[in-house]
Amino acid sequence: MFIQNCWYVAAWDKEVPRDGLFARTVVNMPLVFGRDAAGKVFALQDRCCHRAAPLSKGRKEGEHIRCMYHGLLFDKSGQCIAVPAQERVPAALKVRSFPVVETHRWIWVWMGAPELADTALIPSTPWLDHPAWRALDGYVHYDTNYLLIADNLLDFSHLPYLHPTTLGGSPDYAAVLPHVERKERGIHLTKWVKNTEAPLYAAEYGGFKPGAKVDRWMFYEFLIPGVLLMDSGMTAAGHGDKDGFREKSLAFRGCQALTPETDNSTHYFFAHPHNFLIDRPDVTQSIHNGILTAFDEDREMITAQDRNLRLDPDFKMAVLSVDAAVGQFRRLVDRYIISETKPAN
Ligand code: FES
Ligand SMILES: [Fe+2]
Repeated sequence: MFIQNCWYVAAWDKEVPRDGLFARTVVNMPLVFGRDAAGKVFALQDRCCHRAAPLSKGRKEGEHIRCMYHGLLFDKSGQCIAVPAQERVPAALKVRSFPVVETHRWIWVWMGAPELADTALIPSTPWLDHPAWRALDGYVHYDTNYLLIADNLLDFSHLPYLHPTTLGGSPDYAAVLPHVERKERGIHLTKWVKNTEAPLYAAEYGGFKPGAKVDRWMFYEFLIPGVLLMDSGMTAAGHGDKDGFREKSLAFRGCQALTPETDNSTHYFFAHPHNFLIDRPDVTQSIHNGILTAFDEDREMITAQDRNLRLDPDFKMAVLSVDAAVGQFRRLVDRYIISETKPAN
């Protein structure tokens, strides 16, 4: 079961062509995306109401989509407007349409009741297209449920162990627990680690000598349904200040979104904008490659973990102090799902 009344990242903007169609399944719902004459994105159920053929295998005709099985023609609202060899088109002949918003490079879709689709609930990701920040677009596909990936993102004590050569950091980094706060729509984590070893990439880009000590911070929100917005970075040891003096630091504004595809598969969108050396595409590429390598490490571990869990559905996870945010987020998801499914009085 998934939360329905929320915005999910469905695609990078460039994935939905100006002409043509784009298919992606979100929370078990096959969707087809297209653009109207003004370039505005629309989303319809990717299942023809005649015999369930995917409309994404159809043909875009201006703003309309023709199902290429038996030729029904749909407008961008999902209404069937023409049936071959039949003059009358029943009003009931339509496919569901979904609210969609394109903002800061991501295309968000609302999977629940359309009248509840409040655009103010879309998490803001201005760093994805801000001129002072640089990043490359990332996408990874997982063959696991999204909650195992959310668990991973809510507990970065794994960094020195699973990512020793990429995101890394020394074991003292893992020893510092984040401050965890529960918010209405997510979890807020704050972590400062003073006088810790700089990760390898910091030595490369920040002029820190290998083995130099830094003050490292990581503030992030992890929001319903699975959106991570992170302010992270480091500065020379002794300069880091929790209340904000972080000039001359290496800073990142990570934007990540987990979107369940099915019960056992997940779309993972990410970018890791940086504010230094922004005129060096090789640096942006190298940061992106480092993240990709780390995410492969995560995926390999989480997929293996998932295999073990499927072999023993009764397995009970041990709860440690590093798991505070993991537990809180899972309870929040349950609370949302229950509130959406309980019968109205
Ligand atoms: S399945 Fe689409 S027209 Fe028949
Ligand atoms: Fe990781």
